[in-house]
Amino acid sequence: MVTDAEILEIWPEIEWIDNEDLRAQTLATWRLAFARSPLTPSDLNQMPFTLHVPNCSVSFLAHKRLVVHLAMESAKKIEAFMGTAMPLDRDTLIAGAILADVGKLLEYERVDGELRQSLRGQYLRHPFTGVGLAQECGVPDAVCHIIATHAGEGNLVKRTPEAYVVHHADFMTYEPLVKGLVPSA
Ligand SMILES: [Fe+2]
Repeated sequence: MVTDAEILEIWPEIEWIDNEDLRAQTLATWRLAFARSPLTPSDLNQMPFTLHVPNCSVSFLAHKRLVVHLAMESAKKIEAFMGTAMPLDRDTLIAGAILADVGKLLEYERVDGELRQSLRGQYLRHPFTGVGLAQECGVPDAVCHIIATHAGEGNLVKRTPEAYVVHHADFMTYEPLVKGLVPSA
């Protein structure tokens, strides 16, 4: 079983969440995801963040944490330059960014020692399973909205400002790679 201490080790950004209840709900959602997944914290440090980019050298955790940092830095700059014109709830933003891909843990299964996409992952992409996990742990709707809308499915939805920031932090560090726009070294 993955302990809270192990989760906080891979996700030190959980401590950025000021609200005690939301911090506990975010931690509980990751705990639940690990309990239902064949993946371990060390798998997340090793596996590439996307299978759509050949030989991707960026790990799942590196990319997920990057998105949280980009979202947080964006919020600071938006506040510095725009004042109160586009207020962002920091706790909602951080929790949403930390939980955006938690459902990916249910997209895998281990067969004969090999990780592969689970049948559940084929039926339900991680925005859907992520919301399911988060709701079980009492995560508020404003944060579940970010999980639900962070990826392409969210293009059909009216995103909140926090969801917009997380979506762009995620996609600006994904699409150039997956579209082959990065010149090879
Ligand atoms: Fe995602």
